[in-house]
Amino acid sequence: MGKFLLGTNWKMNKTTAEGLAYTDGLTDIIPKFPEYQFFICSPYVQLWKQRELIDSKKSTLMLGAQNVHYEDCGQFTGEISPVMLKEIGLDLLEIGHSERRQYYNETDYTVNKKVLAGLKHGFTTLICVGDYMQEKEFGVSAEVLAKQIKIALHGVDEKDLDRVWIAYEPYWAIGVQGIPAEPEVVDSLHTMMRGVLVDLYGERGKDVPLLFGGSVNIKNAVAYAKCQDVNGLFIGRAAWHTDTFEEIMTALREAGIR
Ligand code: PGA
Repeated sequence: MGKFLLGTNWKMNKTTAEGLAYTDGLTDIIPKFPEYQFFICSPYVQLWKQRELIDSKKSTLMLGAQNVHYEDCGQFTGEISPVMLKEIGLDLLEIGHSERRQYYNETDYTVNKKVLAGLKHGFTTLICVGDYMQEKEFGVSAEVLAKQIKIALHGVDEKDLDRVWIAYEPYWAIGVQGIPAEPEVVDSLHTMMRGVLVDLYGERGKDVPLLFGGSVNIKNAVAYAKCQDVNGLFIGRAAWHTDTFEEIMTALREAGIR
């Protein structure tokens, strides 16, 4: 397993000017925390300028898009293809975030197509999976997540596995209405997801980073990071200001998270 992953997706927030100011600030902080690998997923319109900024600062910050289409080109008005994103020189594609699944009809099957397209074009794919509160209450979260992972990875060759990351983000834990997950729940579901990956890919399944996200903040970040098979945190609101993000980095370091 590589470095512990820390990243954020700022959704449909921040203008390009704000996004660049944030990126500039984050790239100043990152050298203080060499034990972590950082990434950001930002709106399409900011990506070219962010790439230039990150490169000009010789930063290790990984840059990703929040979505992608699965075709290289074609009659898909308003969509952005992996070929276009490759031209920018992105590192990462975020695929299947819960808001994409809930509001834009993304299914496990379209997520799979996007994963295959992203891998084909050389990106690391950050696949988001999650359960609804009702599924949690009915005790079927494990089945739901296993199904999402199996479909997302259908046809993914073992040789591409080093460019697959998976984030568990319970739908009920995300955003302003989110209820933070109990660390025990995270622990047991991450252990279960690791088992699914090992069933699919044998020993190689142990190397896929599993991130957790959904209302991660300074109060709970260490508890989540200490869970079995949590190899990174995908943070929303609490990372949208570099100062609150840095507080989390410091807390993780003080807790010995690597
Ligand atoms: P949140 O967002 O931390 O603001 O709940 C998490 C996410 O959507 O990735």
